[in-house]
Amino acid sequence: MDRPSLELRTRRLVLRSFTNADAAALQVIAGERRIADTTISVPHPFTMADAIRWIEKAQRGLIDGTQYGFAIALPTPARLIGYAALHEVDREHAGAEVSFWIGAEFEGQGFVTEAAARVISFAFDEIGLNRLCAFHMVRNPGSGRVLEKLGFRQEGYLRHRVRKWGTFEDVLAWSLLRGDREAG
Ligand SMILES: CC(C)(COP(=O)(O)OP(=O)(O)OC[C@H]1O[C@@H](n2cnc3c(N)ncnc32)[C@H](O)[C@@H]1OP(=O)(O)O)[C@@H](O)C(=O)NCCC(=O)NCCS
Repeated sequence: MDRPSLELRTRRLVLRSFTNADAAALQVIAGERRIADTTISVPHPFTMADAIRWIEKAQRGLIDGTQYGFAIALPTPARLIGYAALHEVDREHAGAEVSFWIGAEFEGQGFVTEAAARVISFAFDEIGLNRLCAFHMVRNPGSGRVLEKLGFRQEGYLRHRVRKWGTFEDVLAWSLLRGDREAG
């Protein structure tokens, strides 16, 4: 079967589907402890087998339409720098969850906001979703700031929603509706 592929562009970035050739770079970036520290789905350590599984899952998600996982890449020279995704795509209710991370070297330059904004327009305008949600640990305010810049509204404080490194953590829940953009 042909590998499904998608490519979106922003001013500085290419958002594209993963290929097996990304495994080594993915292992390095996703292997940063700081990424595992504030996410739930990134194992630590992140082995080459994890990288291959991650890529296969992203490819399957594109085939069945349940997940759109984009590699965030710089165009020239081409370099994988992070990840932005729509997960849990729910056609019945036209919703999905947004998630993202970026390598330490590239933090604080607006890259995740730029990438996620494009993923959001893809979600609303190209696959017809109505509601996006996102979650982050309370101790990760940088992620909340990204969501705020993207127009998300905070809608809940979830006590002990996740367990990280053996400790229960409170989580903030956010959402963005297609209509919020038109309104705002
Ligand atoms: C959170 C993360 C995705 C942000 O990526 P980024 O590319 O640096 O984000 P941007 O540069 O687009 O925007 C970051 C914003 O957060 C702000 N910020 C960063 N750390 C902050 C903190 N501790 N408190 C408050 N704001 C903070 C920045 O100042 C910036 O806001 P500004 O543009 O108003 O100055 C990135 O740090 C990351 O990958 N962290 C580890 C994994 C993770 O937590 N992923 C999200 C899981 S929910």
